Amino acid sequence: MKFSLFNESKSQQVIDLFKRVFSASEGEAEGQVIADFVTNLIATTAPQDLMGCIAEENEMVAGCIFFSRLTVPSGKVAFILSPVAVSTDDQSTGIGQNLIQYGLDHLKSFNVTLVFTYGDPSYYSKTGFEQINESVVQAPCPLSQPIGWLAQSLDGQVIQSMAGPTQCVEALNNPELW
Ligand SMILES: CC(C)(COP(=O)(O)OP(=O)(O)OC[C@H]1O[C@@H](n2cnc3c(N)ncnc32)[C@H](O)[C@@H]1OP(=O)(O)O)[C@@H](O)C(=O)NCCC(=O)NCCS
Repeated sequence: MKFSLFNESKSQQVIDLFKRVFSASEGEAEGQVIADFVTNLIATTAPQDLMGCIAEENEMVAGCIFFSRLTVPSGKVAFILSPVAVSTDDQSTGIGQNLIQYGLDHLKSFNVTLVFTYGDPSYYSKTGFEQINESVVQAPCPLSQPIGWLAQSLDGQVIQSMAGPTQCVEALNNPELW
């Protein structure tokens, strides 16, 4: 499995992957919601605010994740991981965790110090994410499942409580996704 950073030549393969994977796991309507989200994320996010990572086998995309900038009131450099998909046939073989670790290593080298995500704590804890209360850092949109608000520090410092709102990129600023 080859890991690399996303570039726009892979856009269609990546959008198709998210549509296929989420249609299979959550139903066709959700597959379309995620495909539209990824299309929008790629089209509307400034290059310095977006980092995608892909896993490929024989030129076929088997997994993809995106991190986008989250502006936080403390001024720390923060990104949020969303969405994540591994091709249905390749799930539970470690691709998701390896891809996330690959992305975190790149973010560190770009001096990102805080990373957030929103998802299943039992899965994301495998790559260092921990539950975080919104009294410490607010989510950018109202959370339907506050238990899924997760974060990790990349600089070894404890995440300090910060008052005030956070701001995600436009494509993610959609209550339907939260
Ligand atoms: C969730 C997903 C990204 C995980 O990637 P993966 O490559 O299959 O997972 P990995 O091989 O890295 O890790 C496997 C481990 O995670 C667990 N796991 C897999 N999917 C999980 C999920 N949705 N929730 C909780 N745990 C999960 C497996 O049980 C396994 O645990 P084990 O190592 O203790 O046996 C992938 O299954 C997927 O794309 N699912 C459909 C889309 C989705 O739900 N995306 C995430 C939205 S938050």
